[in-house]
Amino acid sequence: MKISVIGCGYLGAVHAATLASMGHNVLGIDVDPVKVEQLGQGAAPFHEPGLDELLQDGQAKGRLRFSTDPADAKGAQVHFLCVGTPQDKTSDAADLTFLVSAAEALLPHLAAGAVVVGKSTVPVGTVDMLRGVLAARPDVLLGWNPEFLRQGTAVKDSLVPDRLVYGVDGGRAAAFNPSSGGPLGVTAALDAVYEPLLRAGIPRLVCNFATAELIKSAANAYLATKISFINAVAELCDASGADISELSEAMGLDPRIGSRYLHAGLGFGGGCLPKDIRSFRAQAAGHGVTAVEDWMQLVDSVNLGQRSRTVALAEELCGGSLAGRSITVLGASFKPETDDIRDSPALDVADRLAAAGAHVTVTDPKAVNHAWRRYPRLRFEASILRALEGAELVLLLTEWDEYRDFSPAVAAALVRRPVVLDARNALDAAAWQGEGWTVRGLGTRHGGTQPVSGTSPVSGMRPASATYR
Ligand code: UDX
Repeated sequence: MKISVIGCGYLGAVHAATLASMGHNVLGIDVDPVKVEQLGQGAAPFHEPGLDELLQDGQAKGRLRFSTDPADAKGAQVHFLCVGTPQDKTSDAADLTFLVSAAEALLPHLAAGAVVVGKSTVPVGTVDMLRGVLAARPDVLLGWNPEFLRQGTAVKDSLVPDRLVYGVDGGRAAAFNPSSGGPLGVTAALDAVYEPLLRAGIPRLVCNFATAELIKSAANAYLATKISFINAVAELCDASGADISELSEAMGLDPRIGSRYLHAGLGFGGGCLPKDIRSFRAQAAGHGVTAVEDWMQLVDSVNLGQRSRTVALAEELCGGSLAGRSITVLGASFKPETDDIRDSPALDVADRLAAAGAHVTVTDPKAVNHAWRRYPRLRFEASILRALEGAELVLLLTEWDEYRDFSPAVAAALVRRPVVLDARNALDAAAWQGEGWTVRGLGTRHGGTQPVSGTSPVSGMRPASATYR
């Protein structure tokens, strides 16, 4: 099929590349000429495992092109809207400006009977609003097909999704009305697009527009709920001497609960979960559903509280004051396997430590180049070895494998004081303790309930290394 994908960020670039790999003829359109140029050379403008290979393969086979001109979308049978829906600058609601301008730009170039399908995460009611934008073209069919991919595993998530959701006019009932034309057309078009996935047995759900819009928001809200729940319980573990890692492992073995998104630590960040739960809260408030509104408020505040708890614990581990302390932060991206630093909990904490007077050095396997310009208070270092030199406190804030697997003996030889705050509860605490480290986590005591501050960690400080900068 001839397909256009409007918006080539994380969602659109991956969608365009995976559709091309399924054999379609795909044109990706984006307003940013630099992004289009990079994608056209087979290099994603962000780190996403497996994407460069797919981009190069699609272009080598002549099935994938990128352009800045919406007129190039002429002749496509299906147009996917994949632009960003960021948080509004002045409220919790989603900003739909990019979506409206993408639909307007596409309007003059739509063929008769073309199908326009939204994939961006949007508040309920967005399709009705877009129908107004496309009102001059009653022959154009509208559908909604939310995307559930995660950064870092986006290619796999797109090629082997858990489910396909189609929002169509009138929902399932209308889809079986052969005389209605419209709704049946959208379902049939999407079935043709995803034919290889359907053949592989991926479940497909057809529903009305409001349901399709809400499924995505509700799914992200539920994931965020699980994370904030376990983080709230982690605080109770801290207060009572229980261990959150053991507790969540035992909870997760119950198949009704499941272990995923039950990992306690610094909490969630990124370009999706935080803004999506705020948009969900604003939607609930708009519909007068206070239970969802209050729920999302709590999930958000527990999540942000983890960042404050981490800063407070770092202060405690520095003997009560961060001023003048040399602190090394491992991790800058919002999670491992991505260079995305949008709403990164790691950088937020690092910046707060620096604001309190600490000398903070941040290292990350992929995100240093993105981060250094935006955080002038922080010192960035690409090499973990150099970053660790002279540290009085080490914080693990993003659990890259490089840091989980790093030798505690090597790290101990570089720092001034072997104290690590593992805010992702990801390190092998016994191995680190075996090399002389004091290890603290969030909700884990690692060998007793005695707070490290009670042993006055500052008195155990080593002399500064000569190479420390
Ligand atoms: C999320 C949704 O998972 C995806 O379905 C949706 O399409 C977009 O939003 P993503 O933003 O890529 O995807 O991140 P995800 O892997 O879900 O992680 C979100 C955050 O939660 C990260 O900061 C991660 O560190 C944190 N997290 C995740 C936890 O703190 N604990 C967990 O147990 C799981």
